[in-house]
Amino acid sequence: MKRIKKEIPGLPVHIALFMDGNGRWARRRGLPRSAGHRAGATAIRKLVEDCDKIGLKYLTAYAFSTENWKRPDKEVENLMNLIREFLDDTGRELEKSNVRIRIIGLRNRLARDIIERIEETEKKTAGRTGLTFVIALDYGSRSEITEAARKIAAKCANGEMAPDEINEKLVSDNLFTAGIPEPDLIIRSSGEKRMSNFLLWQASYAELWFSDVLWPDFRIRHLLRAVEDYNKRNRRFGGVRG
Ligand code: FPP
Repeated sequence: MKRIKKEIPGLPVHIALFMDGNGRWARRRGLPRSAGHRAGATAIRKLVEDCDKIGLKYLTAYAFSTENWKRPDKEVENLMNLIREFLDDTGRELEKSNVRIRIIGLRNRLARDIIERIEETEKKTAGRTGLTFVIALDYGSRSEITEAARKIAAKCANGEMAPDEINEKLVSDNLFTAGIPEPDLIIRSSGEKRMSNFLLWQASYAELWFSDVLWPDFRIRHLLRAVEDYNKRNRRFGGVRG
């Protein structure tokens, strides 16, 4: 296998990922969906390691959406177990890695033990200076923006601030992603082309890349292909070509 160079020039600061296609990957092999999710979890672990090696600062992965609770109970349980395993292993390998972990999303519907694992992992990795790996878990942009509106409205109602003091920065600071730079590049695997309630506010000026590769087969070389294309683009943020 080709060795990955330490630093890659032209890397964006923040890449966000849809890990799509686990079910199809499994079906093509005559395997249960759970096997696809397990292979998908292995793929994200490898990618996190490799993204840290190449010097990426932020990687966000959409692990479980607010809509994913509609899946069969067994599949939900299976996904939650993969999250448990990931958080436990990250805990065990703490001394070796320099990856910081953050989890974004609602917390109140998650099992107690998962919340504890999240809090412990976030605390233990808070001082890390390498890649920040953000896991979107029970995450949906609409619920995130609704929560932010509720928090801001409460401040207005109790006289802490006036409605005309509300600005874009304040809204951003009340999202789950507070303190995390907006994604520069969003990658979706498996040939699907939609945003599925993911980082809708934060993605306002993100570049999009769609890959036909099914998530369990997605590797750093696929991500670097997206980065290569990203570097050929002229980001104007609503201004003129310059
Ligand atoms: C979408 O593929 C994938 C998900 C809803 C789950 C993603 C979760 C993981 C890869 C594992 C856990 C994550 C971590 C961070 C340890 P799909 O099932 O909708 O695929 P399909 O469209 O082919 O059916």
